[in-house]
Amino acid sequence: MKRILWIPGMVALLGVGCAHRAAPTLALHATAAGSALVESSGGKQLGMPGTMLPQPLVVQVNDASGNAVTGALVEFSGPEGVRFDPAAGLSDSNGQVSTNVTMGGIGGRYELTAASSDKSGKQFFLKVTELSAPYQQQVGYEVNEKYCAHCHNSESSAERVSNYDNLAVKPHSFADGNVLNKFSDSDLNAIITHGGPALNRSALMPPYGWTLSKAKTQAVIAYIRLVSDPPYQPAGVTYAK
Ligand code: HEC
Repeated sequence: MKRILWIPGMVALLGVGCAHRAAPTLALHATAAGSALVESSGGKQLGMPGTMLPQPLVVQVNDASGNAVTGALVEFSGPEGVRFDPAAGLSDSNGQVSTNVTMGGIGGRYELTAASSDKSGKQFFLKVTELSAPYQQQVGYEVNEKYCAHCHNSESSAERVSNYDNLAVKPHSFADGNVLNKFSDSDLNAIITHGGPALNRSALMPPYGWTLSKAKTQAVIAYIRLVSDPPYQPAGVTYAK
């Protein structure tokens, strides 16, 4: 504002600017401002391309002391094709805003952003990752949750307790692309089917050849490729110039 008042000739424009700001497309008026956004629930979900994620994404606005703020405006955005219902909302009495997310039509990792503003109008953000994948990776996700995650994921969840801290040799998160991308599909197939010793690694990695069908083994490999960060680039396909 100050900057505009320095130039008397711009006073008319100032009026236009204010009128424009007074009529936002969304009829939501923040009555409070926080200073940080945290994820309450709904991150790291897996949905079919073009469909709504099973759980809503819920984020919380906090003040500088970590207390929930009611009445702060939160706006959601994401890559092309992602839809939010609603796309913006005011934080409720728990400081939370909830939105239903419909994934874009292409499978892959989607980084979503929730944005809010502090008292001075400065924006702050929260990034949330969701996955969109066709049926095979969905099956792989379920295989992982049932057979692999309690060792390969160091975090416990409501459904499973992590065994990671008890392992003398530490497995990697399947999202650790720097490690997992170095395994060819046939290496992955060997270690999953025959266990760690198939690749001269620890027998703490059990064999799954008796437990998983070939299709389920392929599905969990497809899932590992999907979640890897940095993304997996299949070797071997080179195009001549
Ligand atoms: C009982 C714990 C345990 C379970 C369950 C388990 N793993 Fe492992 N896994 C390990 C350990 C330990 C290693 C590391 C072996 C080494 O580096 O010597 C490993 C290594 C691997 C590796 C090599 C990359 C890495 O993380 O170092 C792959 C790939 C792998 N496991 C896939 C799977 C899949 C797929 C499943 C489920 C079908 C699974 N694992 C279940 C313990 C486990």
